[in-house]
Amino acid sequence: MFTAVITGTGAYLPSRIVTNKELESVVATSDEWIISRTGIRERRIAAPEEATSDLAYYAAVGALEQAGLEAVNIDAIIVATVTPDMLFPSTACILQARLGASKAVAFDLSAACTGFIYGLELARTAIFAGSWQHVLVVGAETLSRIVDWEDRNTCVLFGDGAGAAVVSRAMATDEVTAPHAKNIMARILGVHLGSDGSQGEVLTLPAGGSRRPATADSVLSRQHFVHMNGPEVYKFAVRIVGEAADALLSKLGLAYGDIDYFIPHQANLRIIEGFAKRMKLPLSKIPINVEKYGNVSSGSIPIALHEFAPMFQPGQKIMLIGFGGGLTWGACLLEW
Ligand code: ACO
Repeated sequence: MFTAVITGTGAYLPSRIVTNKELESVVATSDEWIISRTGIRERRIAAPEEATSDLAYYAAVGALEQAGLEAVNIDAIIVATVTPDMLFPSTACILQARLGASKAVAFDLSAACTGFIYGLELARTAIFAGSWQHVLVVGAETLSRIVDWEDRNTCVLFGDGAGAAVVSRAMATDEVTAPHAKNIMARILGVHLGSDGSQGEVLTLPAGGSRRPATADSVLSRQHFVHMNGPEVYKFAVRIVGEAADALLSKLGLAYGDIDYFIPHQANLRIIEGFAKRMKLPLSKIPINVEKYGNVSSGSIPIALHEFAPMFQPGQKIMLIGFGGGLTWGACLLEW
């Protein structure tokens, strides 16, 4: 019986740090306001010559190295992103060419901040079905290119970055059956996904697609930037993180006490604290890095997974929980 395991992770954050103080000269805001409402102290912003595939590339190279794989061993590349280099070709195909992953099928996945979890589930089920042996799942964003730097409601919240994981085929006995992969970091025990398109209007990028193609007017009316109903997104997020966790735990016959760490999408410290309070979880069980990177959308969870991996011990259970535009949500349980 096959099982899906993570054999490597990687992350890349652009070197430029933009502090809240620096944003005070961009929009009418303050370090104090941003910290008290979001917990964010700084974020990374990509260099002008960097696009999403560049960030994805460095995260992918790290994940492949850790898995002990050459790019040519990869069967599929899934890039979750809402900030592709361009509408097409896909960022995944651009990444495939740069990596030299000639055997891989490559495609992008659009599920906003939940994209990485959706990607893990696609990888897991394809591995079960026997279709692929090694899948590179990447969450990569250059959100600085789609936020309105004149809108203080949104521009302070987001950052750029990428994270990646290699998902490989293994046996239930902890043996990697897919050739070449060296180590098992974590077994994927289960995934729960959800979507609610009826609420999609609370978080959108209205123009630039077939509904509202780019025109001089769409540019002038700032329709190519993120539009967000902050309070509605906040309410949705606090509710859905708990519901996603509940659904996955009941699917697997587990309880909150069985989980050692929760890694929610790092959108906002208040959302994380709201979830912790609602679920009566100590914050010590929730590793947090939102203060350093802001909300990196699909990059958020794989960056956190890579960053916090050294603290996890064999046998521990770690739940990843995503939520975002669409609306979408998902939870994934890993056993280290
Ligand atoms: N600096 C100063 N003032 C600001 C700023 C800012 N950066 N942004 C908004 N304000 C002002 C507003 O203009 C408003 O002023 P007004 O009352 O004069 O109109 C006021 O602050 C609103 O203040 P609050 O009601 O206290 O703000 P709130 O507590 O709702 O916090 C926030 C706003 C942080 C956006 C909150 O709604 C939130 O966290 N929403 C979730 C958004 C989120 O995390 N999105 C992530 C993307 S979605 C995803 O990842 C799934």
